[in-house]
Amino acid sequence: KRVAILISGGGSNMLRLVEDMTDADHPAVPVLVLSNDANAAGLARAASLGIPTAVVDHRAFADRPAFEAGLQAQLQQAAPDIVALAGFMRILTAPFTEQWAGRMLNIHPSLLPKYRGLHTHARALEAGDDEAGCSVHEVTADLDGGPILGQARVPILPDDTADTLAARVLVQEHRLYPAVLRRFACGDRRRLDLSPDGNLS
Ligand code: GRF
Repeated sequence: KRVAILISGGGSNMLRLVEDMTDADHPAVPVLVLSNDANAAGLARAASLGIPTAVVDHRAFADRPAFEAGLQAQLQQAAPDIVALAGFMRILTAPFTEQWAGRMLNIHPSLLPKYRGLHTHARALEAGDDEAGCSVHEVTADLDGGPILGQARVPILPDDTADTLAARVLVQEHRLYPAVLRRFACGDRRRLDLSPDGNLS
């Protein structure tokens, strides 16, 4: 299976997906890393690993559909079977997500369906939750609302800030996304709930 990964920033999740796919027994290979931001640090990291990269700058387009036509042109060239959003910070329209229905994944830093959208960690702290986590889901027109393919949980500690919690969740994102992509690339849509790895730091 051919996988295109869309990023907007550092691309730490992209890197873990790419690293995992270097396994000979992994059913997928990375064929493109695409960013909406030319300054995304993840682009250089992907290029240094020999992965083709592209930039489709959303600011260069008049509107969302025009931007997505730019995305689609790049994706058509790479011809991925799966598109993995990894720290990709643009909302995609319904027509675009419908084109990729069943073939597009996203990782979201909350235990969906709680805290769709932004500032998930601050909202969990504000609500006084005692746990947080991340979710990998299929992308649909419903923002952060598609079928959940996997989750990983972390405790919220009394002295947590949004940053300390984000760091703890990110460690689990880096475990969860590769594990879910492996399954998904085999056509296995069973939900994966990762067991704690004792990473309570
Ligand atoms: C992370 O906070 C992650 O929760 C979300 O996007 C942010 C950046 O991820 N998915 P990455 O390091 O660019 O993969």
